[in-house]
Amino acid sequence: MSTVCLSFRLNGVEFKKVVPSGWTLLRYLRDDLGYYGTKCGCEIGECGVCTVLYDGEAMNSCLILASQIDGADIWTIEGVAPSGGSQLHPIQRAFLDCGAVHCGFCSPGMVMSVVGLLLKNRNPSESEIKGALAGNLCRCTGYVQIIEAVKTAASVVTDRDLEKFVSGKKRET
Ligand code: FES
Ligand code: FES
Repeated sequence: MSTVCLSFRLNGVEFKKVVPSGWTLLRYLRDDLGYYGTKCGCEIGECGVCTVLYDGEAMNSCLILASQIDGADIWTIEGVAPSGGSQLHPIQRAFLDCGAVHCGFCSPGMVMSVVGLLLKNRNPSESEIKGALAGNLCRCTGYVQIIEAVKTAASVVTDRDLEKFVSGKKRET
């Protein structure tokens, strides 16, 4: 198996690691680093359960090669809540409060897509919310509660709640 040595930031922590070059980021996160919060579904970019934040953009980690993360700033669901472990992020809280989590399989990917949306647009319309979540499938909720959760999150989230997700590259520009 060929490998590459990469430096990247994951959930705010700097890593320098030898990574199998043919693995997807999804596989690398789960099978090497043990970040199981990022779910594995279709592995062909159609369900969105593997969504992570890649340099501030919500992306399907099953479509990114691990070898492409050199210098990247990656966030997964494990890094969303404030450090310390006793509090949820306002986006996660809104999902719970609005009943948008049923089996929960889609929830990590949904939350990461919402982080990506709110980084770009703090006051999304319903159609913008639907557009941002178009690649995230949910088998349980019918989406009504999820859209409500995103509206709620947008109404309460602050700059401070989002600042850690702004990629280092964007901060420098
Ligand atoms: S597992 Fe990546 S989009 Fe389905
Ligand atoms: S809550 Fe079950 S798939 Fe969305």
